[in-house]
Amino acid sequence: MSFEFLHRKELLREKAFWGGSWKNGNSDLKIQVINPATLEVLGHVPSLGQKETLEAIETSVLAFQDWSSRTAKERSILIRNWADLMKRNREDLAILMTLEQGKPLAESRGEIDYAFSFLEWFSEESKRIYGDIIPSHRKDTKIEVLKQPIGVCGILTPWNFPSSMITRKTGAALAAGCTVISKPSELTPFSALALAVLAQEAGIPEGVFQVLTGYPEEIANTLIDHPEVRKISFTGSTQVGKRIMERSSKTLKRLSLELGGNAPFLIFDDANLESAVRGAVLSKFRNSGQTCVCANRFLVQSKIYDSFLDLFLETASKLKLGNGLEKDTTLGPLISEVAVQKVETHINDALQNGGNLLLGGRRLESGKLFFPATILSNVSENSLSMKEEVFGPVAPVYRFESFEEGIRVANSTPVGLAAYAYTEDYKKIEALSKHIESGMLGINEGLISSEQVPFGGLKESGFGREGSKYGIQEYLHVKYICIGGF
Ligand code: SIN
Repeated sequence: MSFEFLHRKELLREKAFWGGSWKNGNSDLKIQVINPATLEVLGHVPSLGQKETLEAIETSVLAFQDWSSRTAKERSILIRNWADLMKRNREDLAILMTLEQGKPLAESRGEIDYAFSFLEWFSEESKRIYGDIIPSHRKDTKIEVLKQPIGVCGILTPWNFPSSMITRKTGAALAAGCTVISKPSELTPFSALALAVLAQEAGIPEGVFQVLTGYPEEIANTLIDHPEVRKISFTGSTQVGKRIMERSSKTLKRLSLELGGNAPFLIFDDANLESAVRGAVLSKFRNSGQTCVCANRFLVQSKIYDSFLDLFLETASKLKLGNGLEKDTTLGPLISEVAVQKVETHINDALQNGGNLLLGGRRLESGKLFFPATILSNVSENSLSMKEEVFGPVAPVYRFESFEEGIRVANSTPVGLAAYAYTEDYKKIEALSKHIESGMLGINEGLISSEQVPFGGLKESGFGREGSKYGIQEYLHVKYICIGGF
């Protein structure tokens, strides 16, 4: 099975989109795109490199002159057209996503809605880019502050959210008047290419949104090194984010880095148990745990610990592991063999350090990528799963005694993207808001993402904010003008 379910077969492209057309480039090299549920080859995309990236940059620089000089309303209408086309093609986009990424179809539909919401949001925000007039320090001068688009932007996005990470960045960039060269993950290029088909249909002008397929190194390095590329926005690991930052120093590029997390999920004795378990399952097992903001460690206070484990186990054991295209699947496969091995390493390490396996723990079938929901209790603070992002359906549960200990353990990590806490006590909520070291905090909520909120991290989870009124500022620079002679 591959694409017979698509209503519009032309949404599936096996060519990349740059320089105003769909092509393969000079290289005969192709990348296989694999369905993680069946391990069958879905299709191929070209493996592009420096030459094609330089061509795309040239096109993007030219396109910027026109795009940035259009009125905000013109840009807004075109971005909105693009969003509406996403809505109209929702089912096909969701099927494509499930085929190449593996997530259950219901989650893919949810992601398409989420991806759409960023284009919708930023089409509106494009009309609200205000500058300032500042009272002058002299009688004969006027002080103006302009917000201007940065220029050509390189957008490097991961496989776990193949559409929404592109629209979250591109929506903001295009609304600000920038042009975009998108480099999606080589594991999930079809969702990005389908977005390019719709951008073209929406009337987004040539060169404003281009998609280059290939392995990251050559394309990303060419974008990073080029002086005409003014910004790189990256979502991915902290390790790669650091390398991008180092390399970008040569041209001092603007950067947005949305990097790894290690989200603590705190449950205090006074929490509402049912609500905490609902949030825990949603936060941990969305996208099979392959989410930067998903709960990575469960920190549970001692009095509620046993009842939390009982209900968590009962609820998580109902998740149905399988091919995301099957109707009742609620947990899809992991993306690759490497991902499965990482999960196994984390589980073995937790068990060696005194943890107990309560649910799951072993892949369903040898050689396949299906890994069940796994719960480990009594996990020690020094276990790998408490220190590192597991990026899989594994929930290590740690028991703590005092409020202070909970906060200390939650903050004992170099990263700080998201955190979650369940309590009914407003004084604790105040203290958590103040002391938890993360860019985002869900209190009595396990799913906090939306186009209206500033998404981003602290510490080694990176910097820059995406979505919300703050997201567009990442693609604008501030220019101060002093007009004399009054
Ligand atoms: C991510 O994993 O980086 C994105 C998740 C989200 O936007 O909710």
